[in-house]
Amino acid sequence: MAMKSEDPNYSNLKGQTVDLPEDLFAQKGKEKTPPPCILVIFGASGDLTKKKLIPALYNLMNDGLLPANFVCVGFARRGKSAEDFRKEMSENIKEYSRSKTEEKELEMFTEKLFYFQSNFDDDQGYENLTPFLEDLDKKFGTNGNRIYYLSVQPSYFSVISDKLKAHNHIYDENDKEKFSRVIIEKPFGHDLASAQNLQKDMTQNLSENQIYRIDHYLGKETVQNLLVFRFGNSIYEGLWNNRYVDNIQITVGESIGIESRGAFYESAGLCRDIIQNHLMQVLSLVTMEPPTSLDANSIRDEKVKLLSAIRHYRDDEIEKYALRGQYKEGFVDGETAKAYRQEENVNPESNVETFAAMRLSIDNWRWAGVPIYIRAGKRLPKRATEVCVTFKRPPNILFNKNETFNSPNCFIFRIQPNEGISIRFNSKVPGTANLIQPVTMDFQYESFFGKGVPEAYERLIHDCIMGDNTLFARVDESLHSWEFISPILDRWKEKPFTEEEFYSAGTWGPINSELLLREEKRSWKML
Ligand code: BG6
Repeated sequence: MAMKSEDPNYSNLKGQTVDLPEDLFAQKGKEKTPPPCILVIFGASGDLTKKKLIPALYNLMNDGLLPANFVCVGFARRGKSAEDFRKEMSENIKEYSRSKTEEKELEMFTEKLFYFQSNFDDDQGYENLTPFLEDLDKKFGTNGNRIYYLSVQPSYFSVISDKLKAHNHIYDENDKEKFSRVIIEKPFGHDLASAQNLQKDMTQNLSENQIYRIDHYLGKETVQNLLVFRFGNSIYEGLWNNRYVDNIQITVGESIGIESRGAFYESAGLCRDIIQNHLMQVLSLVTMEPPTSLDANSIRDEKVKLLSAIRHYRDDEIEKYALRGQYKEGFVDGETAKAYRQEENVNPESNVETFAAMRLSIDNWRWAGVPIYIRAGKRLPKRATEVCVTFKRPPNILFNKNETFNSPNCFIFRIQPNEGISIRFNSKVPGTANLIQPVTMDFQYESFFGKGVPEAYERLIHDCIMGDNTLFARVDESLHSWEFISPILDRWKEKPFTEEEFYSAGTWGPINSELLLREEKRSWKML
């Protein structure tokens, strides 16, 4: 069935409805009703729970996408009554939910919330959890189905999965009566070796199909739309290769700093936080081959093939093609921002990167010879995540005398904010002067579809309840990404920061990031 939409901006369509192709992913299992279940959130006192997970569940309920028989249990170390937990979560929903909150809905939702206090490594806690959850099963008809969301420090992933298994909270994958699944937040491992070890630990307790490695970028509408844009249309595919594309740029820019996450950042850094996962996922969707179907594994197979085709740097190339930076004091959004080294819980001589820019090559037929430039950073001038595919200039025959004819065509995917897609091409300026000027055709989600895009976590939690792991990273995706990233991090670890690696907060990173492209007669797209 086709969706209907009105585009108030397009006069010919006013008052009419238009048939739109449906989101290909959404068709999968759409008719199915979400199965009853209990979602247990480990780390229920954390920021992610209050800012993202609970508001996402609330919005799912409002959109009719939560199972009728559903309970969410917050599992955390602090002592707290269910009532206190509900009150806190109500406040969080009011503050962070994307949709308006109504008292009646809030009450309906918070009735589904419970709290369980225990340390993550306390056997007795896991023992007591059994009757606690069974009791909820009886009251709410949740059938023994369980989803465990590990929103905790990565060092607890193995401990919690061991305890869950030891105390019979994990069922056999082939159990026909009930299911148990574990959602793990990123980063999956600290480097290649630790990711391999973590996988070994996890698979002692769970099968791969029970592990949902979340990368919330995969839940973003605009990231899912990359595949629809590429493979749900026929006009672009012929251009999507080294014959026509000059270069691809991906930027994940944030104006915020590390906020209150100094301790996490000191152990992670920008590469582990953003590039190894979010950025590599976006890159693989922009450049992978078409999958044979929309099956989770067909899509993941293609992503893995792409990730394994990224050329690893030789030792002497790391310095040339992989640059890092760290923010100094500066101005962002009209306010002074302190240096990374002055942030709370950060070593005043820290060697942790808050910015990285790289030039990648993909060694396959489609992309051979096309440079891929990626960059990500904290305390940049604005929040902007974009993919820009720039095409080769047309042959310099007809309009070469026209000084203004200097702009290559581009496809721009705005992942956030102002989610949408733009196409830039050259047009004649009206008049007798024969001037040519680049112009932009723009598609914006919000104005076309008349509503904002749902939060990534909504889609992902819903998919996990439905048992669809397409939008979660398979282990080999993560390992291939580490294979590329780990040697760079090892190299950086050996060397203290040099003066030119620092950048003022509120700028687009160190000057070397500009030079990386300038040396190849290119520049970063202005954002
Ligand atoms: C998280 C990172 O995964 O993604 C944060 O840990 C980052 O450092 C965040 O700020 C960005 O997410 P979004 O959805 O705001 O782009």
